Amino acid sequence: MSGPCITGKARLAGVIGQPVSHSLSPVLHNYWLARHGIDGAYVPLCVAPEAFETAIRGLQAAGFRGANVTIPHKEAAFAIADEVDPMARIAGSVNTLVFREDGTIHGASTDGFGYIASLQVEGVAPPALAARGPALLLGAGGAARSIAVSLLEQGIAVRLANRTAARAAELAASITAAWTKHAGQSGADVTVCSWDSWEEELGGISLLVNTTSLGMEGGPNPAWKPDLSRAGSDLVVSDIVYVPRETPLLRSAAAHGLRTVGGLGMLLHQARPGFRAWFGADVEVDEATVRHVLAALHR
Ligand code: ATR
Repeated sequence: MSGPCITGKARLAGVIGQPVSHSLSPVLHNYWLARHGIDGAYVPLCVAPEAFETAIRGLQAAGFRGANVTIPHKEAAFAIADEVDPMARIAGSVNTLVFREDGTIHGASTDGFGYIASLQVEGVAPPALAARGPALLLGAGGAARSIAVSLLEQGIAVRLANRTAARAAELAASITAAWTKHAGQSGADVTVCSWDSWEEELGGISLLVNTTSLGMEGGPNPAWKPDLSRAGSDLVVSDIVYVPRETPLLRSAAAHGLRTVGGLGMLLHQARPGFRAWFGADVEVDEATVRHVLAALHR
């Protein structure tokens, strides 16, 4: 692989967040840039909420091609975009900004795309899931929202379970309203089930997705391991937690003979549309990419 080749004509992009020091995006994009011999750079940009708009206008003025946007700016990024894709409109947030030559800003929400791609590369086909039954999502934060919308787009019904039941009910209502308004389709198939009894429902579920921080190293309960004994033999179990790469949930699912999908794939695949827009190349998430990012994660 060739080294960095940043000239006076380099294409520039970055990730805006606060904090941003833990972001793996610079490692990932600069790896792809070097691997494809592209004259470009991708930098971390730590920006306070009150400085977000100033930073965006400054990056545009300085000739950046665009930026990824992470916590706490995803709603502000939605607001500043002149035009957003349908997924971003339904999700109400944007993680990828593209600065166009005419001065306008395009916003996209690529987390859902990343999630679906992470299933597909593991051989899990959304139409097969849709035919087998609804997906059950655990959690009611921003990640649950993006994943729920992307599953609905694939024709997969969604059930939501969250410790704080009111948040699950609010999320279901707001996705349904946004879906009906922006997707121009009839009501979204989103229902809520109880946090205390979702394990009992697993028999009729095609896909289980953990979007909470349960099972995460350093999180509220790293040893979290729900009861999967009622799962059908074709249940797919996925976790968006990627530290550790194999969470106790995924280990337990594998021990039950169930197919599993880890969280690193979503993180890597969601970066592909931005890279394409800013740097002009289609990139792959192969084993070498995964190894490179994991090495940075453990550094
Ligand atoms: P995101 O990062 O996706 O935007 P978040 O708002 O940080 O999400 O939420 C994290 C999720 O983990 C929430 O669904 C949270 O449940 P509550 O809404 O009840 O807070 C869930 N979560 C965190 N700790 C938990 C725990 N100990 N038990 C159950 N759920 C938990």
